[in-house]
Amino acid sequence: MTKAKMIVDKSYKIADIDERIYGSFIEHLGRAVYGGIFEPDHPDADEDGFRKDVLELVKELQVPIVRYPGGNMVSAYNWEDGIGPREDRPKRLELAWRVIETNAFGTNEFADWAKKANSEVMMAINLGTRGIDAARNFIEYTNHPGGTYWSDLRRKHGYEEPHKIKTWCLGNEMDGPWQVGQKTAYEYGRLASEAGKAMRLVDPDIELVSCGSSHTQMPTFPDWEAETLTHTYDVADYVSLHQYFGNRDNDSQNYLANGMELEHFISTVISVADYIKAKKRSKKTLMLSFDEWNVWYHSNDADKEIEPWTVALPQLEDHYNFEDALLVGSILITFLKHADRVKMACMAQLVNVIAPIMTDNLGASWKQTIFYPYMHASVFGRGVSLKPVVNSPKFDTKDFTDVDYLDTAVVFNEENEELTVFALNRHIKEDLVMEAQLGDFEGYRIQEHIVLEHDDLKAVNTATNHPVKPYRNGDAVYKDGVIETKLKKASWNVIRLKLINE
Ligand code: AHR
Repeated sequence: MTKAKMIVDKSYKIADIDERIYGSFIEHLGRAVYGGIFEPDHPDADEDGFRKDVLELVKELQVPIVRYPGGNMVSAYNWEDGIGPREDRPKRLELAWRVIETNAFGTNEFADWAKKANSEVMMAINLGTRGIDAARNFIEYTNHPGGTYWSDLRRKHGYEEPHKIKTWCLGNEMDGPWQVGQKTAYEYGRLASEAGKAMRLVDPDIELVSCGSSHTQMPTFPDWEAETLTHTYDVADYVSLHQYFGNRDNDSQNYLANGMELEHFISTVISVADYIKAKKRSKKTLMLSFDEWNVWYHSNDADKEIEPWTVALPQLEDHYNFEDALLVGSILITFLKHADRVKMACMAQLVNVIAPIMTDNLGASWKQTIFYPYMHASVFGRGVSLKPVVNSPKFDTKDFTDVDYLDTAVVFNEENEELTVFALNRHIKEDLVMEAQLGDFEGYRIQEHIVLEHDDLKAVNTATNHPVKPYRNGDAVYKDGVIETKLKKASWNVIRLKLINE
């Protein structure tokens, strides 16, 4: 059996973790809204038509921010269609996913839902078919107190107080040919900087996200970032990153090494952003918003069969297996390792559509495998991200070399006097001994060692069968300043310590 060692010290700090890295995403797509968070006929719906069972699961995840309303959908969306009396709202052809959008749910309903979910709203504007005018009117509607056309319209719609939406995405994946209103980097950069400028004139307190590449394999990556940021650097606070993964070749060892791809993506975007900073002699450092990430491939074939112009049929309904949960854990570990620059991230998406939560229409809701690492990171991963010095045995795969079997991040919560070690054993065949030497954590005791493991990497949770779930009595012990544990092959581990005053 192989052994990995690491050293952790309170003074080796990466950065304070911005809790918004545990964000998520709801798009008007498939059954994310209709049948997901909103289903007025469901026996468990509340007075607003929100599914209470789903809200409870979202609260378990402690999702601090949720992006809305898209996604691809936003690039041809008229936000005005989704406000005012429901009976007056138009049905539209929704071009991104080629369905019918009833607009029964819109901005105000989402703001209400987010409040009930204890989340903030991250709003995206349409820079595909629309531009500066629609954007400035939209933010006047949501954020201005009153006394003007759009803000008074909101008040007339029953919202006396502004929603005060702080975070705004300047469009979505505008480099992608699948986007309605795709732009060149120059076209996007100019439009986004002027739209952002107008929005900030309406509300100077907002934060803006400039749209980055849709993924690393885009032919325009990373020139897209260099050109667009040349225009948006001064107005934006963040640049976005999107990436989805899939075990398409059924090579699980290779699949679990994808954190390396993410590392490469993040460090490249940081380099480009810092290059623009240098070019502009700017004092501002741009932060990263990884506002779409997840596994997405299980549903690709089924989605090709969907007839156009349906309403809220299943789309992008990936049923996640155990190895997907491991990769999700690795992705979250990667964000923690980059806590100094990755300040927001959204698991795409939250309910039914490539999501940790699944529902049956008018029926049950349940936790997919990926729910667990997401919940553990969100609940226990708050505080300061520490930089462990890791010495792990390594492996090579088809796409990656020198990958550590031990993938780990460490979070210190000074206020609660808690230390949490997230540890993934990427070895799919062998257990791995982990020895973590802790500096300056006298009086700490292990509270629990949570383990997510399963013999079958392809095991899936369903409404009636839940084989993939964590247990709390892993074997970690803490003695003489060292945590020692045998990490099970292909396992996700959360080792939690707390200061005990005896
Ligand atoms: O999350 C699903 C889709 O993936 C989003 O609509 C789009 O932004 C991305 O391509």
